[in-house]
Amino acid sequence: MALHSHKGGSGKTLFAMNLSAYLTQLGKTVALIDMDLTAPSLGTFIPSQKGLTINDILMKRATAEEVFFDATHIIGDVPGKLYMALADMTGEGIAEINQRDTEAMLEDLFTLIDLVRTKLPGDPFNVDYILIDTSPGLTTNAINGVAITDQVVMILRLVNADVEGTYHFLKTLFNSVQPKTSIVVNQIAEHIIEEQDGRKKIDNLIKNRIVNAIPGLDITFAGILLNDNEVISNEFRYAMESIDASTIKPRPIHIMNPNSQSFASKFKTVLDGILND
Ligand SMILES: Nc1ncnc2c1ncn2[C@@H]1O[C@H](COP(=O)(O)OP(=O)(O)O)[C@@H](O)[C@H]1O
Ligand SMILES: [Mg+2]
Repeated sequence: MALHSHKGGSGKTLFAMNLSAYLTQLGKTVALIDMDLTAPSLGTFIPSQKGLTINDILMKRATAEEVFFDATHIIGDVPGKLYMALADMTGEGIAEINQRDTEAMLEDLFTLIDLVRTKLPGDPFNVDYILIDTSPGLTTNAINGVAITDQVVMILRLVNADVEGTYHFLKTLFNSVQPKTSIVVNQIAEHIIEEQDGRKKIDNLIKNRIVNAIPGLDITFAGILLNDNEVISNEFRYAMESIDASTIKPRPIHIMNPNSQSFASKFKTVLDGILND
């Protein structure tokens, strides 16, 4: 499954990490891959454990066994397991992966297909779910990340650029691959939902501009998440705790956090819809 959006900041990384946590709570084994090669961000939850990254797999310098590490402890005492492959956050690493020609980037697709079809379902990982956190927009990295999965979750905020960008991304994708597609509208202000029949309007907008506009593609509108005060407070609290710390405090995983259990229950409802689709 890939998490994608046209614009940045819509919640892909939050979704990827919290969905991984949820699946491990359910006893699943998950491989979470940072394919946001230009602006890696899963490393904000946990520093690299082995010093190797997904970039090393794409550059054919390292194997999956060398790069993926067991990150279950950041979630806590759960029955499942989480393996992660981070992307290289250094300037040199990002430049190296971006400076390659189109042919090299196309080859990534074959490397990634091999990774998700044979390496990760095999020993020692044996994963149930592979989750891919992508970079925004219609980039080769993003297309590669989405093309290797059987399901894509498009997470968007309600701004025109995001709605139209989602439509164009799915339409382009549909020419070559047809993954099962879920749409989540994120970060909606509460008063919009409460005051102006907002849910119905949003529903109509997504149906007209995206779902019905791409006939033949299997798209489900999975739901709406509000701009959540618990999430905002948690992120703020963790950021502030880094003021005097020698190392940056890792970003919070909201669904595990006792301070955001109201968000957790709403988030899980949307996830159940996506997982059971
Ligand atoms: N439902 C939400 N309520 C409040 N804040 C949110 C919500 N979803 C995402 N955010 C915040 O938006 C910011 C961007 O999220 P992130 O997952 O990093 O986006 P992306 O990976 O798409 O760039 C983060 O600070 C995150 O905490
Ligand atoms: Mg991100």
